[in-house]
Parts: sequence; structure tokens; C-alpha cells
Amino acid sequence: MKNGFPVFLASLLALGGSWCGFVLAPIVQLGGGQQTTILNSSDLYPLGRPGMANQGLQVYRANGCAACHTEQVQQSGVACDVVLTSAGKDPAGVTNLISSLNLNGLDKAAADGLVDKITAAGGKAEIHIIATGPDITRSWGRRHSVAEDFLYDDPVQLGSLRIGPDLADAGTRQPDANWQLVHLYAPQNVVKDSAMPPFRYLFRVRKINAAPSPDALVFSKGSGPPTGYEVVPTARAQELAAYLLSLHADVSLHDAPFTRPAAVSKP
Ligand code: HEC
Repeated sequence: MKNGFPVFLASLLALGGSWCGFVLAPIVQLGGGQQTTILNSSDLYPLGRPGMANQGLQVYRANGCAACHTEQVQQSGVACDVVLTSAGKDPAGVTNLISSLNLNGLDKAAADGLVDKITAAGGKAEIHIIATGPDITRSWGRRHSVAEDFLYDDPVQLGSLRIGPDLADAGTRQPDANWQLVHLYAPQNVVKDSAMPPFRYLFRVRKINAAPSPDALVFSKGSGPPTGYEVVPTARAQELAAYLLSLHADVSLHDAPFTRPAAVSKP
């Protein structure tokens, strides 16, 4: 072949270039990922999923849940809310002042300006950072997902299709293991007209012999198995539920900050 060398060089460049782009660049960017600390705290994040939840990740993968669910909350920006923490010595004056102001959804400069105004009037105020975007509005998470969220997951199940809701924060939304199990067994039992397929093979329907199993699912009236029978989750179902409960995207981090309202702030 006359042009052997240029063809070889062109293929080397094409393959080498894509290898650098698809393999090397992600390793350089994310390969050295480490635990980080929660914002304004010395607590480490993430701590790794409990053993059962880790096995649940494999059940999640094996059942193709990622074909319909993503685990990546998107965010389009941040906004600032100004929150009055003390009305000071002249409550009437400060209340009067803030009643004429818009305190929510501001940019940082405007929020700083308002805090200065309130401070000048004798009150005290602080700025709360709020993540914004369609996923946040849908209550799918308090902030966007970051690489640390998946530090100990192998494989990472980001998903790319959203036939069902994003699950990055599913454990915060629905922390009840029985709800998760009933939903997997018969989605329409708990979500009317749910389009999610049931995963019945992760459960056993048994005749109750002496006493009901402590693991048996608790159904709402009229929706369970026939009287005398019970639905018991297999180990796989329990692991999957543990995994779903371990899904949280609700801690504030340096690369994804937001302010938790004081009442529900985590230690
Ligand atoms: C064919 C698509 C499809 C597949 C496959 C699927 N789901 Fe779903 N899922 C949905 C839809 C649609 C909803 C929304 C309706 C509902 O809540 O039941 C949903 C809802 C959910 C919810 C409730 C989320 C919330 O907070 O509202 C959880 C949890 C969930 N799915 C977990 C799973 C798990 C675990 C698997 C794999 C075993 C799975 N799904 C497989 C379509 C799917």
C-alpha cells in the first residue's frame, strides 16, 4: 500500500484522540475523587452505603432500573433569599421596611444590599442560598448532583432516560422501607395509575402457617393478597429497598452549596 504510513498515522491519531477524550480526560478529572466535608461542618461526605444498600445497587443494575430512572439532579443556578433573623429594637420600623421589599430569588449583590438596609434599620438578616432549576422545583433534590455523591458506587447508575422521576434523592422523599417494597411489588397500589412495571419476582406470596412473617409487606386496606396469604420480600428486594433509602442528595457541599433552614439543619 502506497499510503500505508499516513493511514496508520491518521488511525493512530483518531483512536488515540478518542481514547484521550473518553478514558484519560475523565480519569484525570474524576479519578482522584476523595471524600469531602459538608459545608460549615467537619463531617466527611460521603460515608459509603451500608452493606445491604451496596448489594442493592447490584439489584438495581440487574433489573435495569436505570433504563427509566436517572440519578443526577440538574441545577440551572442559585438565588439568594434574605431572611430576617431579628427585628431589633424597632420591630415596627423593620417590619414596615421589609414589607415593601422583595426578599426572595435575588442575586448576591441585591441580597447584600438588602441585608445592609435591614441592618441600618436596626434589624438582623441573613442570606440563604437556594439552588434553582426545573429538577429542584420538582423536589428531586436540594442541589445538583456532584461526583462525590457516587464516590463508592460501582457501577455508577446515572441513567439517561427519565420515564420515571430522578432517584438521586429518593430516600429523602420516601424514607419508609415498606412503602418502597409495596411500590416495587405493585406500583399502582401506592401511586395511582403508575406506569412503573411491578417487580413481583422479587417477592414470594405465601400461605400464612403458624404466624405471619415479621418481614411481610403491610398493605393498605383491600389492596393486599387474599386473606390467609402474605407477601414476603426476598433478600434481593430488601437489598434494593435499602439502596433506595440510601439515596440522598441533601447535604450542602462546597461545590454545591445551599442553605438548610435552621429547623431541619443536620449536625
Ligand atoms: C418502564 C420504566 C420503569 C422501570 C424499568 C422502573 N421504573 Fe421506577 N418508576 C417509573 C415511573 C413511570 C414512576 C412514576 C410513577 C410511580 O411513582 O410509580 C416510577 C417511580 C419510581 C419510584 C418512586 C419515585 C418517587 O419518589 O416518586 C421509585 C423509588 C422507583 N420508581 C424505583 C424503581 C426501581 C428500584 C426500579 C428497578 C427495580 C424501577 N423503578 C424500574 C418507571 C420505571
